[in-house]
Amino acid sequence: MEKYVINGGHPLKGEVEISGAKNAAVAIIPAALTVNGICRLENIPQISDVDMLLTILRHLGAKVRMINPSAVEIDCRQVSLRDSPYDLMRKIRASYYLIGAMLARFGKAKTTMPGGCNFGVRPIDQHIKGLTAIGADLDVRNGFVFADARGGRMSGGRVYLDKVSVGATMNIMIAAVLANGKTVIENAAREPHIVDLANFLNSMGADVRGAGTDCIKVNGVERLHGGTYTIIPDQIEAGTYMIAAAATQGEVLIKNVIPKHLECISAKLRETGTEVSESGDSVLVRGASKMNHISLKTLPYPGFPTDMQPQMSVLLCLADGTSVITEGIYDNRFKYVNELRRMGACIEVDGRVAIIEGGHRLTGAPVAACDLRAGAAMVIAGLCAQGRTEIEDIHYIERGYQDMVGKLRNLGADIRIVEYPDMEAAEESLEIG
Ligand code: EPU
Repeated sequence: MEKYVINGGHPLKGEVEISGAKNAAVAIIPAALTVNGICRLENIPQISDVDMLLTILRHLGAKVRMINPSAVEIDCRQVSLRDSPYDLMRKIRASYYLIGAMLARFGKAKTTMPGGCNFGVRPIDQHIKGLTAIGADLDVRNGFVFADARGGRMSGGRVYLDKVSVGATMNIMIAAVLANGKTVIENAAREPHIVDLANFLNSMGADVRGAGTDCIKVNGVERLHGGTYTIIPDQIEAGTYMIAAAATQGEVLIKNVIPKHLECISAKLRETGTEVSESGDSVLVRGASKMNHISLKTLPYPGFPTDMQPQMSVLLCLADGTSVITEGIYDNRFKYVNELRRMGACIEVDGRVAIIEGGHRLTGAPVAACDLRAGAAMVIAGLCAQGRTEIEDIHYIERGYQDMVGKLRNLGADIRIVEYPDMEAAEESLEIG
């Protein structure tokens, strides 16, 4: 078992390079199933969610060849549904994209219900509604999703999403690319990774239009061909380093970003008094010695991302006065607050609203990462806290951040990975012995 140990109080200074976008990569890799040729993907992030999806494709019979640590060639021409690795599928949220991809490719799919971070109930009813509208029959039984395209091939159709859902929008897009007709998705999500998936599919010969707006049209084509595609930089990783720079009163140049994707984060940071300046494909963040309290609500893009909410809570613990955060996407995304309280944070949570009493110095403590972004928030808290913080359950962080420890150490942070005994395993072995 490993944990992070951080000695806080060092302002971050220097430059950091942002990796490829996790939430684009985890859709594009399953979508490679629809391609009749070799897909070369560049700028893939080196994170465990990507490793897991590549392993799933290998189990299905794909040839997966790493060209270098951030480029991979995927050839799915020999894939079959015989050896589906259900245990792996269950561990990862993005395995729901395999339903759309298998339906497009084989006209049928069997996967497990998806896993992923626990923010309360995370249904897939909009995926089912959309896939049904474009020609599939779906059934959820005993933890599995069974899907069959009526007549053996997706037909296309019209879908109105009752909720703006990133996953449902992308899943329907993937399932529709090889359909025997046209698909229209209304009330579609508009996140940068939706545009990236559409660009990937189009570069392989698909006909997807309107991605980035709330109405996406997909004209089905007979086949997709191989090609090379470069994944966009990760908006949330970039935002996390922006907040880490602000929280430690540091000065960090964040490179390989698309500043337009960061506007929702930059705007709120500027309200706190943090300096953010953009140039080309980088942003420079300079922390302020005194920060203002703010209010914010998480919303679908271009609103403030829910995946930046825990990190922003930490920053607002350091601002003067009372800030209010309203979670607009998930029912239960404030579980990490208990961990932050161990470090001296003064936060009250009422349903989807957190009231943050700022101006208290955080102090180091042993804490746990309760999910991916909560883990990133704990790291930021540790970086600006007085004394030593130890963070357990870092496997959550490694699902979505490439080499966070190395990148932070380059910026002057005192953070390291430490092995520690797994007490539960040790107790079990004593009992067995
Ligand atoms: N929802 C439904 N029914 C559905 C689908 C979604 O009610 O069929 C609800 C969800 O419960 C949630 C809201 O709609 O309340 C939005 O969910 P969405 O479908 O947009 O989320 P997702 O596709 O499951 C992706 C990211 C999450 C990110 C959200 C929102 C992936 C693999 N995950 O999840 O990323 O929080 O979009 O932007 O792309 C993360 O990276 O840490 C992460 C959790």
